[in-house]
Amino acid sequence: MTNDSSLITTEVSDKILRIGIARPEKRNALTMAMYDAMSTALEATEQDRQVRVILLHGTASCFTSGNDLSDFAKHPPQGENSPVFRFLRTISQTTKPLLAMVSGPAVGIGTTMLLHCDLVYADETARFQLPFVNLGLCPEAASSYLLPRRIGPQRAADMLLLGEMVDAATALEYGLINQLFDSATLEDQVLAKATRLAAQPPEAVRLTKSLLKEQQQEPIANVMRKEGALFLQQLAKPEAQEAISAFLQRRKADFSQFS
Ligand code: COA
Repeated sequence: MTNDSSLITTEVSDKILRIGIARPEKRNALTMAMYDAMSTALEATEQDRQVRVILLHGTASCFTSGNDLSDFAKHPPQGENSPVFRFLRTISQTTKPLLAMVSGPAVGIGTTMLLHCDLVYADETARFQLPFVNLGLCPEAASSYLLPRRIGPQRAADMLLLGEMVDAATALEYGLINQLFDSATLEDQVLAKATRLAAQPPEAVRLTKSLLKEQQQEPIANVMRKEGALFLQQLAKPEAQEAISAFLQRRKADFSQFS
């Protein structure tokens, strides 16, 4: 486990808090320390009058490859209060508007966290994948509830059972993202959206976000809890161990011995 929370950058400017995932050499894979740094930054905004809008982003060629698989193998989450679940609860309960800017791969939690964002923008390099089953795991972040409602049950089954990758144009068609921009202009366009939102009357924005989310808060919390418990069970099983070892050893996983 790395303790380097500087792999998460934060910067407030013009009432916009930018939270950046900055570990490009590992494709922005998320460790426990990184989840904690993101949760702390999100929680702090609740009382911070200088922040009206939160923007999550990765680096130029990658949003995030999801949970750090070697961290998963060495330090599996221990329960509801582990950093990954704290982060998921926090992102689902944040009262200020959350924007996301996606370039390159958004894998696993890289895609499920977007289901909790209010506005998601991407460029043509973005691609979205939920390889939980491929890893012997099951959905998290209430994605088994939110994804079929967002994109339809057939498409959700494609993404969740087969781990099918969805490119940027398809993600737009599915309604996984709000808008697609050219990579050369993505950041400017997203900052322009964030700036517009930050100039809106803040109480009306928060109220509207809360009304948009209200009906789903209880089911999200319940499903997240259930998925979390099953995810931890799966993580300890031989299917997940085979899948994670295969990734770390750069070989194809072999599930033929399992029934
Ligand atoms: N956890 C830990 N390390 C990861 C990682 C992850 N989720 N994703 C990438 N890395 C590491 C690789 O092990 C490699 O490390 P090394 O250079 O020390 O060998 C480095 O990041 C580059 O990865 P690589 O696979 O060569 O990059 P790529 O650009 O060819 O592919 C991805 C990018 C994101 C498509 C690919 O890395 C991938 O599929 N990662 C795993 C995604 C995943 O299953 N996430 C978990 C979801 S629950």
